[in-house]
Amino acid sequence: MKILILPGDGVGPEVTKQARKVINKVADIYNLNIEISEALFGGIAVEKHGKPFPEETKNEINKADAILLGAVGGEKYDQLPKEKKPESGLLELRKQLNLFINIRPIISFSELSNSSSIKSEYVDNLDIVIIRELISGLYFGQPRGFNEDNTEAFNTMRYNVNEISRISEYALNLANNRSKKLCSVDKANVLEVSQLWRSTVSQLSKKYESVELSHMYVDNAAMQLVQNPKQFDVIVTENLFGDILSDIASVLTGSIGMLPSASLNEKKFGVYEPIHGSAPDIAGKDIVNPIATILSVAMMFQHTFERLDIYNSILNAVKLTLKDKKFTKDISTTDNFISTDNMGNYIVEKIKGETNG
Ligand code: IPM
Ligand code: MN
Repeated sequence: MKILILPGDGVGPEVTKQARKVINKVADIYNLNIEISEALFGGIAVEKHGKPFPEETKNEINKADAILLGAVGGEKYDQLPKEKKPESGLLELRKQLNLFINIRPIISFSELSNSSSIKSEYVDNLDIVIIRELISGLYFGQPRGFNEDNTEAFNTMRYNVNEISRISEYALNLANNRSKKLCSVDKANVLEVSQLWRSTVSQLSKKYESVELSHMYVDNAAMQLVQNPKQFDVIVTENLFGDILSDIASVLTGSIGMLPSASLNEKKFGVYEPIHGSAPDIAGKDIVNPIATILSVAMMFQHTFERLDIYNSILNAVKLTLKDKKFTKDISTTDNFISTDNMGNYIVEKIKGETNG
């Protein structure tokens, strides 16, 4: 197994360092031959090579079986022209690898039910999955840009039936394997794109008789997610709506520092990354929560390497660490908290072989 790590910017290097320890521990316990390499990506790559997604990194990606990404971006890169922005590198990476499936599990650990600003009864044992379409919609639609004298700007939300179908199929399948409930989120009362989205999902759902499909407008969905989150199981939505809803949903788990993600193509090749950003304000302080990135490693074993046993083992190690009341600053409800590095160490210590199931 060849894993490529792209640490990126801000807190990226700190969280991927902890994840790397987890990968090494897993390799050790499960006797796996894992090769880890690192490459430049994001703002750091702009500094060294003048581009956020340099050729060297593209070559490394071609050799890898899976990619772990830290985070990209930061204020100091905000003034760069569009093609040099770290975020443009990330969008190019997603597009180039055809990563149209973005899986964002919203799982709340009972040890953290008091860390959320939502009352614990609403979030205890919550388990939702947001399926976000990742390489189309407003993020990529043409035309886009500024007019000649920069007094007007425009973006285009665009989807074709094929793009809607493949992500809906994924979500319908997932729902079929879970609680058989799928909520498709759109803005069909206003947007033509959403009308096409809604009719396409509805049409496809006929093949999944046992899945109960519902539709919700995105503004209502944002409210329902914090008002009554347990009504949801699998949510499927377009790119920008999914971006926004997953940040809202992170509040339910106690911290955005808890949420991993997987971005996959049709071959299950994936980029695994925390959903949080580069958080430059806390970078270098050894206080960032590495759990989102460590759980992203777990998702890599679940989806790309199809080792559910290892996924469970990492998840369990995180649970045991939280049970021991080891909290980083973002999830601690008192003045006591542990460092990023120690959180990594505690979790690594708790990773055991199958006996720990
Ligand atoms: C995310 C991030 C990215 C996005 C940014 C960094 C481009 O917010 O993965 O949710 O908007 O998709
Ligand atoms: Mn986001």
